[in-house]
Order: sequence, then structure tokens, then C-alpha cells
Amino acid sequence: MKIECRGLTVRFGQQTVLDRVDIDEPDVRALALIGPSGAGKSTLLRVLGGLLAPDEGAVSLDGRQVIYNERALLKHRRDIGFVFQARGLFPHLTAEQNIMLPLIHAHGQTPEQARETARSLLKRFSLAQDAHKRPYELSGGQCQRIAIARAVAPRPRLLLLDEPTSALDPELTAEVLDMIRELQGENLSMVIVTHEMGFARHACDRALFLSGGRILESGASAELFTAPQTPQLQGFLRKVLEWRA
Ligand SMILES: Nc1ncnc2c1ncn2[C@@H]1O[C@H](COP(=O)(O)OP(=O)(O)O)[C@@H](O)[C@H]1O
Ligand SMILES: [Mg+2]
Repeated sequence: MKIECRGLTVRFGQQTVLDRVDIDEPDVRALALIGPSGAGKSTLLRVLGGLLAPDEGAVSLDGRQVIYNERALLKHRRDIGFVFQARGLFPHLTAEQNIMLPLIHAHGQTPEQARETARSLLKRFSLAQDAHKRPYELSGGQCQRIAIARAVAPRPRLLLLDEPTSALDPELTAEVLDMIRELQGENLSMVIVTHEMGFARHACDRALFLSGGRILESGASAELFTAPQTPQLQGFLRKVLEWRA
């Protein structure tokens, strides 16, 4: 998918959270969005996904401009899958029902179709034995994998992931990242906010570095990580990699 943003600006009161953000990514497969806390990463993801309208500027996906009115946004959001940090599942529903619900209510599938889709996804990701468990009966890693399965079940063109592993233990992080990696390709573009620098570097082909509401660097992730240009990215990488073996 082609993602273009022109002069995106978002303000909350006096604070400018996104400051004239330009993005020009002609062929997004896996795009890592990195940067310090408070940089505006989640806000940018929300604007791309049509959950928040920018105060200024424009977004276009595959050459089509996103119109920020409720009617158009309902349709826009149907093409997009979201995965948030944690606790995104409906707590009172089973894994299978969590995946089925949006298919029925937002995508017009029959319960039979939705169940079929849910079952085949759960099977594909080795979660079949968890189909009838509720979130409290599952590990954090399993919950996130089900949240990802739910997000991709309607076959969105774009998957937005906001720190999907930040609440997980390391071994659970690995199983979630493996799943995200496996989903790459197959006509799905993804933008992932992550603090897992190894994943951003090796599993994402492109990366954007956001700091203070501005994009300070963008490019092939291999280059961004090996040759950071700005003191801000150099400092950020030093900090996040400091205690890595
Ligand atoms: N709904 C909101 N109302 C007011 N301020 C917000 C809101 N959402 C985010 N902010 C502020 O915008 C800044 C950027 O937030 P965010 O996009 O969540 O950053 P990041 O995801 O990079 O940590 C932060 O200072 C945050 O407090
Ligand atoms: Mg955030």
C-alpha cells in the first residue's frame, strides 16, 4: 500500500502533538514507527486509522484521500485492522466469539461464515485448543495473538499495531512477533509502533523515527539503525539499546 501524509498537524489544547508530518511511502509492507514516549506515535496511528481527524493536513492511502467525516470513516475503518497494547479483547466472550463479532456486526458475514473464518485462523496460528476460552483463561501472549487474528480476520489492507508486545514477558513477546512476521506479505501492509528494536530492524523493511511530533528520519530500517543521522535518533538508539547483550 502507498501511504502519503502531507502536513499532518494535531493539537490537543495548547500542545502540538503532530507537527506538519509528511510521509511518502510508496510501497509499505512493514513499516516500523519508533520514537520516545510522547513523540506522537499513537496519535499518528489513530489518524491513519481514521480514529482521529487531523487539525490540518491530509492522508491518502493508495492515492485515495481519507475523508474525515463519520460516514466516510466507517467505510475507511473497515479496510483497517487495529491491534492495541493490551486488553483489547471483549472479556466476556471466548476467543472464537471475539473474532466472530466484528465479522458479523461490521462486515456483514453470517454467523456460520464468521465461525468458519475464526476457526481457520485459530487453527492456522495453533490456537485451536483455545477457541472456547475467555481472555482470563489465556496468557497475555495468547490474548494478543487472538487480538491479531481478530484484526486480520476481515482481510484488511492495512494493519496498524500499537506496541502489541509492550505488556508481555519476553518469551510471550517472541511468539507474538513470530505471528506478526508470518502475516507479512499476502496483500497486507502493516505499520507497527514498537520498542522491539530487533524486530523493527530485521522484520520491517522501512522505519520512521518520530520525535516531538516531527518525523526526523525515515528510510530503509537497516540504514536507519546502522547509520542514524540526527543526534535525536542516535541518542534514542543508545538509550533503548544500552542494556542489550
Ligand atoms: N486525547 C488526548 N488529549 C490530550 N492529549 C493527548 C491525547 N492523546 C495524546 N495526548 C498527548 O499527546 C502527546 C503524544 O501522545 P502519543 O501519541 O500517545 O505519544 P506516543 O504514542 O509516541 O507515546 C502526549 O504528550 C500525550 O499526552
Ligand atoms: Mg503510544
